[in-house]
Amino acid sequence: MRIVSGIQPTGNLHLGNYLGAIRNWVKMQDEVAASGGQSLYFLADLHAISMPHVPADLAANTREMVAALVACGIDPDKSILFNQTQVPAHAELQWLLNGTARMGWLNRMTQWKDKAGKNREGASVALFTYPVLQAADVLLYQATHVPVGEDQKQHLELARDIAQKFNNDFATEDAPVFTLPEPIIPPEAARVMSLRDGSGKMSKSDPSDMSRINLTDDADTIMTKVKKAKTDPEPLPGDKGGLDGRPEAANLVGIYAAMAGCNVDAVLADFGGKGFGAFKPALGELLVDKLAPINARFVELRQDRAALDAILRQGAERARALAAPTLAATYDALGLVRG
Ligand code: TYM
Repeated sequence: MRIVSGIQPTGNLHLGNYLGAIRNWVKMQDEVAASGGQSLYFLADLHAISMPHVPADLAANTREMVAALVACGIDPDKSILFNQTQVPAHAELQWLLNGTARMGWLNRMTQWKDKAGKNREGASVALFTYPVLQAADVLLYQATHVPVGEDQKQHLELARDIAQKFNNDFATEDAPVFTLPEPIIPPEAARVMSLRDGSGKMSKSDPSDMSRINLTDDADTIMTKVKKAKTDPEPLPGDKGGLDGRPEAANLVGIYAAMAGCNVDAVLADFGGKGFGAFKPALGELLVDKLAPINARFVELRQDRAALDAILRQGAERARALAAPTLAATYDALGLVRG
């Protein structure tokens, strides 16, 4: 088993990242270590330059994200933790895969359509070819499983399509160059929504900080954000079906279930018939309780910049060694001579 996943260091780690992906990273890191496999987790800093950005912020966010991931439980001794920039094979493999990816496939990506909006002519080329770099990220290491939130499913399907076409075009059936990766998406909170609008996902790019819970928020901030979260006037229903058409209520109950480690019906068995006046303080307390230890570790870790850089440097060295054979096989399969 080989687990690979990434996160963009474009801002704070938020509850959507945590419940959709990072919790599974931590869980799988231990499972994989026990079975003799390997997990690789990286900061997608090369992806982060596909949108306008401030260089000094990217550098600071990269280090903060390492601190946040370690605070969440990623152990650099068990997992390989690094940033793409220090493993040039990611960018190299992307170029090699650009020959296989089709314009039509990329044109269908919903993230491209959402982020470019109406101004496609003005969008960066990197934003368009973003999913090819993402495919390179996982194919480079022969990933078998990729823990992600629901919003990354389409990109993972594209990675499989690219791998399959490359294997068909340039390899034999008994000696494929790439492994087809499987996404791992959690049953609850695979798509955590904004606290201000139940139809939009919780995201780092939302200008309103009230729309998300950051893993670095203190207890007062978390309580305030939960209390001010948008809801409807109805009490909570007794079962899951009663949440249909109530996106804000469904989101808060889903968050509660994921944080408490139970399913939505179990939460509604306790809170069905009660109003948000009772539910919101309970949710806030649950969040504060679970996030406080992460916050405390983060505050400590972020102070030691040299230690954070060392984690990335050492992780990158290990990742480069694992990437080398696949990169070499790709050059060879394409007939590119390297003396
Ligand atoms: P990013 O940085 O947007 O998010 C990191 C992870 O968090 C998940 N996530 C969510 N899950 C549930 N609800 C939400 N509101 C929510 N917001 C984010 C994402 O699904 C993701 O798993 N393109 C990727 C980074 C990437 C990558 C990769 C991922 C680059 N290469 C290779 C996997 C494999 C991204 O921008 O994720």
